[in-house]
Amino acid sequence: MPGSGEAHTIARLMGRRQAVVIVVAVAALALAAVPIVLALAAPADLGGLAPRGEATGSGRAINELYWFVFGMCAVVFVLVESALVLFALRFRRRETTPMDAEGPQIHGNTRLEIIWTLIPAVLLAVIAIVVVIRVPVVHASGEADDPDELAIRVEGHQFYWRYVYPGGEIAIDTLVLPVGRPVTLELTSFDVNHSWWVPELTGKQDAIAGQQNLLRFEPETEGTYTGACAEFCGILHAVMPTTVEVVSQAEFERRVQALSGQDAAGDAQLALGQASWEGACAKCHGLEGEGDVGPPIARNPTLVDEEQLTEILTGGQNTPDIQGYMPPVGRGWPEFQVQALIEYVRSNEALVAEGQGDNR
Ligand code: CUA
Repeated sequence: MPGSGEAHTIARLMGRRQAVVIVVAVAALALAAVPIVLALAAPADLGGLAPRGEATGSGRAINELYWFVFGMCAVVFVLVESALVLFALRFRRRETTPMDAEGPQIHGNTRLEIIWTLIPAVLLAVIAIVVVIRVPVVHASGEADDPDELAIRVEGHQFYWRYVYPGGEIAIDTLVLPVGRPVTLELTSFDVNHSWWVPELTGKQDAIAGQQNLLRFEPETEGTYTGACAEFCGILHAVMPTTVEVVSQAEFERRVQALSGQDAAGDAQLALGQASWEGACAKCHGLEGEGDVGPPIARNPTLVDEEQLTEILTGGQNTPDIQGYMPPVGRGWPEFQVQALIEYVRSNEALVAEGQGDNR
């Protein structure tokens, strides 16, 4: 047993330590509350803390659910953390309390235990019910089988998005949509899983090979919305962004007509070839085929040999040496897209060898 003077010193030291603990606890609480304060005080986009979907009914439904769950959690957080800090202060050991003093020994409290089991159960049930009721609103936009509805095929590829309009027109990475018209995206993949996500328009949806997932929404405001692939899909997952341009109906028709479909020639064909080059080839091999993640391919004869090019585009390259792997980037392309790519390569001096550009 130490002398009384020594005990007094220890008690004083302990008291100081407790004070430090309390200060740290309060500081941690304040820090934890920063996101809540930011979320409540900051404008709509909240630095990435809240959903941005205000451009469609689907996006707004997601926002509502987000804020509902956020509100419930915020109330619980504030109550629990306040009680924690209050109790730490209120029931801390005083300097006058002996070091070996013990608090009252309590064994069980049935009423308390029932209450603190019931409250979270009820809260979770309320969240579940509201979410189950509201989630269908996220997807439904207009009537099913709406004759006005625009169906667009969306293919995830390593590492680009391929959009096919109802008339067969093809676009890469950039999708143009008319304002005020319900749209159904028919998502699929030609290799691994991807996920299409443009947060301002609607929630994310997986693109999976051999399966078609639908994403319905109605863009209400003209503008440019950016999104990304939200499913890790390989080494260049990060360069799989997408852009959705919502424009007037007339502008939409003009833009889609300018895209290349089956019979396109001239500028439209070159544009498709260029988009295919930039989306499917250049991300790995460099804009001028100079090599990047993939090897240099500028002036490679395969680029203008339709048969060989089709083979590597649709089959990829799967060697025992992982360094030599190439995904089948052009799987699902119609012949005219391969031809468009070849036409673009021929038109690009950086990509063709001397004289190759003129050969047919
Ligand atoms: Cu496609 Cu990540």
